[in-house]
Amino acid sequence: MNEKTTNPAPEPLGVEAELERFLRTSDAEEKLGFFVPEGVRFTPEAAPRRIERPGRPVEWTVAAKSPRTPTGRALERPEARARLLHTFLHHELQAAELFAFAVLAFPGAPLEFREGLVRLCGVELEHLGLYRGELRRLGFEVGDFPVRDWLFGRGASVGSALEFVSLVGLGFEGANLDHSARFARWFREAGDEDGARVLERIGAEEEGHVAFAVRWFERLGGEELDYDRWCELLPRPLTPAVFRGPTIDRRARERAGLGRVFLDRLEHEAPTSTPRR
Ligand SMILES: [Fe+2]
Ligand SMILES: [Fe+2]
Repeated sequence: MNEKTTNPAPEPLGVEAELERFLRTSDAEEKLGFFVPEGVRFTPEAAPRRIERPGRPVEWTVAAKSPRTPTGRALERPEARARLLHTFLHHELQAAELFAFAVLAFPGAPLEFREGLVRLCGVELEHLGLYRGELRRLGFEVGDFPVRDWLFGRGASVGSALEFVSLVGLGFEGANLDHSARFARWFREAGDEDGARVLERIGAEEEGHVAFAVRWFERLGGEELDYDRWCELLPRPLTPAVFRGPTIDRRARERAGLGRVFLDRLEHEAPTSTPRR
């Protein structure tokens, strides 16, 4: 056989190109079913790219403001639980997209950090799949309720990898640790044990994401996690008060590696209503 005429296997796209495809696609199934194929490599010395608007399927309604989140007794109605699960599902999508965004925006960050971001992107899409299963159980599908891209817009406004872990990992994901158990309890009280278990499972896995942020805050910043330094790194007008629930889930947050002094300071912030996501 003449080797010169044999077509070589096509070079797989690099990690960055795969993630860019994920961010930009407006095909719902391509977006929701995305994963980075085995064996795909990071591009050495990739140029920074900021993708500030993810693709959205035309059939989805993207709202400027989200309707009020159903809570407590309202969740006895399956439609209300589906609406809430849909909001959480869209949080997972935006989290996955933010991790992809950060890989592309900060190619100069350590490879180990970018590998971690790709792994977390995959975990968020697994969470999305779990919520999708629950949504279907209740008779609804992705796209049945409006979505809002507030989290992505905020997260993609940061200027460095250190600001990224401060806002996304310690801010958004940290706050979720406070909210998680409460929502699971409401689902259980509404008689939805399956939903409650999914919420608890995802909540437990999110502790690892906050731990990732603590670790990288310290490695990228070159100092131990410090509350005042964290506050300085948050984009204005966001303050730490936004990133806590009505009560701090100290045990979940301690498991994620947040120390006593940090949690004492956070506990002294008066909780504010989270900007509508
Ligand atoms: Fe998640
Ligand atoms: Fe997460």
